[in-house]
Amino acid sequence: MASNTEQYSLGHTPTTHAFLHRRRGDTHAWFFHDHLQPGVRLLDCGCGPGNITLDLARAIAPGEVIGVDQDAGQIALARAAAQRANLSNAQFRPGSIYALPFAGAEFDRVFSHALFEHLADPLAAMKEVKRVLRPGGIAGICTPDWRGFIVEPSSPDLVAAIELYKRIQRSGGGNPDIGGALATIMVEAGFTQVHPLARYECYEPLSAIGDLVSHRLEIAPANDDIVAKQWVRAETLARYVRAVRAWQRVPHGMWAQAWVAAIGVNPG
Ligand SMILES: C[S@@+](CC[C@H](N)C(=O)[O-])C[C@H]1O[C@@H](n2cnc3c(N)ncnc32)[C@H](O)[C@@H]1O
Repeated sequence: MASNTEQYSLGHTPTTHAFLHRRRGDTHAWFFHDHLQPGVRLLDCGCGPGNITLDLARAIAPGEVIGVDQDAGQIALARAAAQRANLSNAQFRPGSIYALPFAGAEFDRVFSHALFEHLADPLAAMKEVKRVLRPGGIAGICTPDWRGFIVEPSSPDLVAAIELYKRIQRSGGGNPDIGGALATIMVEAGFTQVHPLARYECYEPLSAIGDLVSHRLEIAPANDDIVAKQWVRAETLARYVRAVRAWQRVPHGMWAQAWVAAIGVNPG
């Protein structure tokens, strides 16, 4: 399946925007810190509103970072944020990871955070990442892996809500469980010196992730018609959403999300 049949299932709404705005370079670029030397030329694929990208720009100055995203609205937000932060070494361009708007071997580093789990053809995307890297250049790709979550206190409806969320992502062509396969995909794309890495992120407050999950389920009937597809009855869906909302009000609950990354070198 290629990009023309893929649907970015998170969507761009105030809730998803608030979710992405919590991210920072020191927390979410953890897997790439060793490769952010001042002066390198860096590409950020699927940069979204640019929160992480701007911190990457600070780390590699006077080098330049270019953020690419297929959504023009995200690019506009990222450009405005760069202007507000007075960062002239952060540029943003619309574009797809399947056809990056650059010549070959233009970058020393390619970074991507929370994009590959939404892709229908991650191998094609990884090959495109390799194409724009110079020989000896380094790529770092990171995604969640939804097989690794620790959610407390659990309940059958909460588990069912999470499974439904994953099914929605799969129906858009994505793979919520791709994290563990990233290193293998890198090797298949021709990278060498490939290393897998992983860490957990604990969401605080729980509403940070609970709002995202319940929102995704709530907008699903409008976007994907999952009730019409008979994946779930309308009243069952409403019960799942209530379960997520009740869970996120529990004191001392936990949602630990597994983030998996792979680092690799383009041998040329
Ligand atoms: C979950 S957001 C991650 C944003 C940012 N990297 C972060 O971690 O906060 C994924 C972003 O990838 C973009 N995207 C989805 N499919 C894409 C594709 N095929 N090519 C480029 N960008 C894509 C979406 O528009 C969205 O902004």
